[in-house]
Amino acid sequence: MSRTMAITDTDLDYLESLHGKLAGAFASIDGEGGRDGIPIVATGVGRALHVLVRATAARSVVEVGTAIGYSALWMATALPADGRIDTIDPDTARTDRARRFWDEAGVGTKIVVHSGKALDVLPALAGPYDFAFIDALKQEYEGYLAHTVRLLRPGGAVAVDNLLWGGRASGARVDDRVPDTQAIRSFNAKFVSHPQLDATILSVGDGLGLGVKRS
Ligand SMILES: C[S@@+](CC[C@H](N)C(=O)[O-])C[C@H]1O[C@@H](n2cnc3c(N)ncnc32)[C@H](O)[C@@H]1O
Repeated sequence: MSRTMAITDTDLDYLESLHGKLAGAFASIDGEGGRDGIPIVATGVGRALHVLVRATAARSVVEVGTAIGYSALWMATALPADGRIDTIDPDTARTDRARRFWDEAGVGTKIVVHSGKALDVLPALAGPYDFAFIDALKQEYEGYLAHTVRLLRPGGAVAVDNLLWGGRASGARVDDRVPDTQAIRSFNAKFVSHPQLDATILSVGDGLGLGVKRS
């Protein structure tokens, strides 16, 4: 198996330093997420989502797991002026905070929040979507994926966060979240061999799954 040397924190700090310091709403969310213990994507994942939305020329996005709006902000700022994100999260205290950050960044009009549980909301969405991002309850990932594959247009792409699950998926770290870890392992095996996707998992952030829907 061909592989590269292990990536260190120094390598990751170097890559992030190339971009300069986060500013505006990006810096505010990143700061508040850390301060308040709200799990948001790694900044490298946010940057990757931004580029992926641009690379796929996406105009419509569905997101599972909004929190205070960091990943949505990275994607919204890559969308054209008439682009739209449907993002789902039952925690309105978090999504109300997200809305203030999006408005501050001038992308609030592109984002529609669906306040509910994703497995209740997704069946009512019609699509088709160009891009999807999954980042909520690990034991529901397989259910989210089934819906997002249905909702994506052929050639549309899906990204999925936390597939390394902090080292628990591989066994590199003591497993203190057994049901979630089992769900992530089961998801990963099915994701990379999904009959309707060309898919792989990148070692970006906490493991970023990427799949493209076959025609
Ligand atoms: C990891 S955070 C999302 C972070 C966000 N994607 C970001 O990077 O800015 C997961 C979110 O999933 C939400 N959540 C919990 N149960 C959910 C459900 N059944 N459906 C959708 N979202 C849910 C939580 O409220 C939480 O805000």
